Amino acid sequence: MESLKALIQEQEVAIQNFKISNAAELEQYRIQFLGTKGIVKSIFSEMKNVPVEFKKDAGQLLNAFKLLAEEKFAAHAHLQQAKVAAQQEIDNTLPAASLPIGTRHPLKIVENQIVSIFEKIGFAVATGPEVEDDWHNFTSLNMPENHTARDMQDTFYVSQQPDWVLRTHTSSVQARILEKEALPIRVICPGRVYRNETISARAHCFFHQCEGLYVNKNVSFADLKQALYFFVTEMFGADTKVRFRPSYFPFTEPSAEMDISCTVCGGTGCNLCKHTGWVEILGCGMVHPNMLKNFNIDPEVYSGYAFGMGVERITQIKFQINDLRLYSQNDVRFLRQFERL
Ligand code: DAH
Repeated sequence: MESLKALIQEQEVAIQNFKISNAAELEQYRIQFLGTKGIVKSIFSEMKNVPVEFKKDAGQLLNAFKLLAEEKFAAHAHLQQAKVAAQQEIDNTLPAASLPIGTRHPLKIVENQIVSIFEKIGFAVATGPEVEDDWHNFTSLNMPENHTARDMQDTFYVSQQPDWVLRTHTSSVQARILEKEALPIRVICPGRVYRNETISARAHCFFHQCEGLYVNKNVSFADLKQALYFFVTEMFGADTKVRFRPSYFPFTEPSAEMDISCTVCGGTGCNLCKHTGWVEILGCGMVHPNMLKNFNIDPEVYSGYAFGMGVERITQIKFQINDLRLYSQNDVRFLRQFERL
C-alpha cells in the first residue's frame, strides 16, 4: 500500500506539472496518462498484486487518481476542437451561402392586385372582424332569422348568446361600414371567410373574398357595370369579354352574377370553363332598399351597388391552380413558383 501511495503521489505531481497549451500537447498528455499503454492503465494493473485486505482502499486511491487524470484532459478538450477546425482549412474569405428570401403567397399577390385596381377608381380599403355577430353577417343584410338564404352558406357558429359566427362572407364589412361611415361610401373589403364545408379540391372551410360597396346619390347599375368592366380589363386584359346573368342575393335587388370569357381557351372550351367558354367570377347588384333602411339611409335619396368575388377563384383563373388545398398546404415547391411576382 505504501509503495502504491508513493507511486500515485509521484504521478499526481507529474499530472499537475504537465503543460498543455495546444492540441499536440493535449494528445501527448492523453497518450502518456490515459492511453491504452498509459500510466492510469498500468497503475490499475498493479491491483492484482495488492493483497485482498487492502483491495478496497487501493481501489479508492486508484479511482481518485484516474478522475484527476481525466479532469485535466477534459479541462483542455477545447484545444482538440480547434485542431479539427484547423484541419478543415476553413477559408474565412469565402462569401457566405445566401439564404433564400421568402415569397408572397399567391392569394396575397392577387388580393393586392384587386385592391390596387379599385384604388385607381377611388375605392378605399376597409376591413372588419372575422368573428361576427348575427346582425352584421346576416340580419342587417336583409337575411332575418329563418330566412331561407341563410342555408346558402354553411355557417360555423361560435356561440349562441351572444350570437357569434365566423363570418361567412365579407358582405359583413358592408354592414360595418354603413353603420359607422358618412356618405358617400366607396370601399373595397378584402378578407378571410369561413364555411362549414368538407375540404376537397373545390371546397375549403376557409377562403378569401373581396367585397365592393358604393353608396351615393344617383348610383345606377350602369355605374356598377362600368366599375366591373374596368376591373376585368385591368386584371385579365382588354380582350376579355364580360356577361351578366340575373341572379339572387338577399342584400341586392336586382342581383346578377358576372362571367368573363375563358382566359385559358379564349372561349373555345376547356377544363377551366367546363367547355362553356365562360367562367363565373363574382356576384353583384344594387344594394337592397331594406338594407339601406337598416342603417337609417333613405333609399329614396341614396342608392348603391355592391359586389363580392372570391380571391381563390380569381387566382385559379390567373395561375390555373386547380386544387384549393394547395393554398394552405405551405408546400414550398408550390409557393416558390410565385417568387418573382
Ligand atoms: N356575399 C356573397 C357570397 O358570399 C357574394 C356577393 C354577392 C356579395 C352579391 C355582394 C353582392 O356584395 O352584391 O356568395
